[in-house]
Amino acid sequence: MTDPDVKLPRIIVLTGAGISAESGIRTFRDSGGLWEEHSIMDVATPEGWMRNPALVLDFYNQRRAQLKEVEPNPAHLALVKLEKFFSTSIVTQNVDDLHERAGSSKVLHLHGELLKVRSERFDDLIYTTDQAIHLGDVCEQGAQLRPHIVWFGEDVPMISVAADMVKDADVIIVVGTSLNVYPAAGLLYHAPYGSRKFLIDPSDNPTSNVYRLTHIQENAGKALPVLVDELIGEYFPAALD
Ligand code: OAD
Repeated sequence: MTDPDVKLPRIIVLTGAGISAESGIRTFRDSGGLWEEHSIMDVATPEGWMRNPALVLDFYNQRRAQLKEVEPNPAHLALVKLEKFFSTSIVTQNVDDLHERAGSSKVLHLHGELLKVRSERFDDLIYTTDQAIHLGDVCEQGAQLRPHIVWFGEDVPMISVAADMVKDADVIIVVGTSLNVYPAAGLLYHAPYGSRKFLIDPSDNPTSNVYRLTHIQENAGKALPVLVDELIGEYFPAALD
């Protein structure tokens, strides 16, 4: 039991590629990351899509197929435990479905989802699929299907929803993102004064100083379950006995 007068914190978790690294999904900017092997301009911009849509489809078909070979790791599972105790929302830059497969119920995807495709002409015609898509696969209006991914240079439709969530948070946990890509990286500017902010990232992520984050310099699979238990222990000491 917890004291009824104690106000429970609202928790927002901002996740990036690093949280899925231990599941076997490559990050983007680490050594060996995806952007070392593929040109962002070729596979993650509207211009790349116009120049060579087959190459772009192939890139995301490979990523979509890889989802069948990976599983959520202890970091994803720790967030499922967190939401059993606190109001917890996840804002992810990831396009995989590992948060959902782990069992998290409130997940906002800022950069789209690999398991969705949409019409290149009609933005609201969105379809769920785990299959490859090819040139000639069309929406019900006859327009080519494209990955449901936010590319560089495109609007991030959910950013204001995410900003409002951050404004309302008491605890913000950032996991496995280099915070290099705006507008997602700017979300922390909305953190309320006095909120507790953590960063879990094994690298010397310089943004921890910019945003005054408490930096836990560890892999997410190791550090996040520990942090989650610490937070639960603060408010529900009996729960961890
Ligand atoms: P990055 O590849 O830029 O950063 C990944 C971060 O995860 C780095 O800071 C790593 O140090 C950290 N990391 C690596 N292994 C980790 C582990 N086991 N546990 C915790 N952290 C770990 O990926 P993002 O910041 O997510 O956008 O990239 C943001 C966006 O850039 C992506 O959503 C994607 C990309 O271009 C689009 O494609 C639109």
